[in-house]
Amino acid sequence: MSTVVVGAALAGVRTVQALRRSGYDAPITMIGAEPHAPYDRPPLSKEFLLGKLGAEDVQLIDADALAALDVQLLSATRATGLDVARREVTTDQGRVRFETLIVATGSSPRLLPGTQHLRGVHALRTIDDAVAIRDAFAAEARVAVVGGGFIGAEVASSARQFGLDVTVVDPLPALMMRGVGPAVGAALANRHRDNGVRMRLGRCVSRVDGSDRVERLVLDDGTVIDADVVVVGIGVDAAVGWLAGSGLDVAGGIACDASLHVGDGIYAVGDVARVAGAHGQRRFEHWTNAGEQAVVLADVLTGGQRTYAPAPYVWSEQLGTRLQVWGEVRPQDELHYLHGDADADEFVAAFGGDGALRAVVAYGARREAMQAQKMLRSGAMWEAGRGPVAQPE
Ligand code: APR
Repeated sequence: MSTVVVGAALAGVRTVQALRRSGYDAPITMIGAEPHAPYDRPPLSKEFLLGKLGAEDVQLIDADALAALDVQLLSATRATGLDVARREVTTDQGRVRFETLIVATGSSPRLLPGTQHLRGVHALRTIDDAVAIRDAFAAEARVAVVGGGFIGAEVASSARQFGLDVTVVDPLPALMMRGVGPAVGAALANRHRDNGVRMRLGRCVSRVDGSDRVERLVLDDGTVIDADVVVVGIGVDAAVGWLAGSGLDVAGGIACDASLHVGDGIYAVGDVARVAGAHGQRRFEHWTNAGEQAVVLADVLTGGQRTYAPAPYVWSEQLGTRLQVWGEVRPQDELHYLHGDADADEFVAAFGGDGALRAVVAYGARREAMQAQKMLRSGAMWEAGRGPVAQPE
């Protein structure tokens, strides 16, 4: 019986790589729902959508490296259930027995209710989603983007590079509020406006019209947005549907301890894992955390004592400039610019409260950004009204 990894994307692949590096020599089977070789998602809403990268450029691991890992990869195979007592995963292709199970199924995009039957309405999570959107962009579509988070802002930026007519709708008053807070979010919204994107912020979608294909969105203030293609980026949920009935605690992610142990020889890694720790119990939807958790899990499975301590980091690429966020911006935090300001071409913003520097948001300004993130990692303090203060030696 082997170790089974359910999920063949970033968290699953990085875990198998880390396991083999640590000398783990048990047979490993990896189950992935998609027909494609494992690939990297961040470029899908950026260079891939722009046609600058193709499928072969976004592979997570090439065929030789995958073969060297000595993994049996069952692609185009969807896990549909888990029987913990019988130590079996059910899939749409049959049953797979395991001794150790690693759940790495990631997250699934939320969909707009009532739009499943409409052609032209897309989420953006898989490479197939990205291909469909890229094709629609090539057809000179009018684009409506629902959700002004990371996906929405990146898609709007990419669509404008195609010269398309783009409208973004979000119920919040600024772009990417969750990631960068209201002030930086408002500044980014202004940049996108200057770039020709129509912003409908503080507005909800009341209706999506069309019989077979999408034709228009109607907003809660009656505004009508004619659209040939709608891209929906309204957040993601842990992909735990297949674990319903397994008896495991999967509400809002699969519950595990700081060693990523769910219990009974079952482990979780990546977006899907709701990890307990000093931070409470929560998921981390970051690209970097998948790799960090993979290293922790490989250590634990080879007899180590490591636990996961999050160091959140996300990046985005918008209007040709890199946006980076270290730490997490809390709504109550104070903002202090360390370089430039929201209207400058590039800026670095520090966020702090309760005596500590909490997060750094940088738009461009890579050198200054690295200095600020070093301050954050070194545990800098925060003085109200003044900003971050380096920790005394
Ligand atoms: N209509 C419009 N907007 C909505 C709705 C809705 N019904 N519900 C939520 N939103 C908005 C939120 O206000 C938020 O601005 O959608 C946005 C979602 O933003 P994110 O949470 O950043 O999620 P998303 O952009 O979908 O990205 C999903 O992909 O790139 C990764 O790590 C990134 O976790 C993120 C994930």
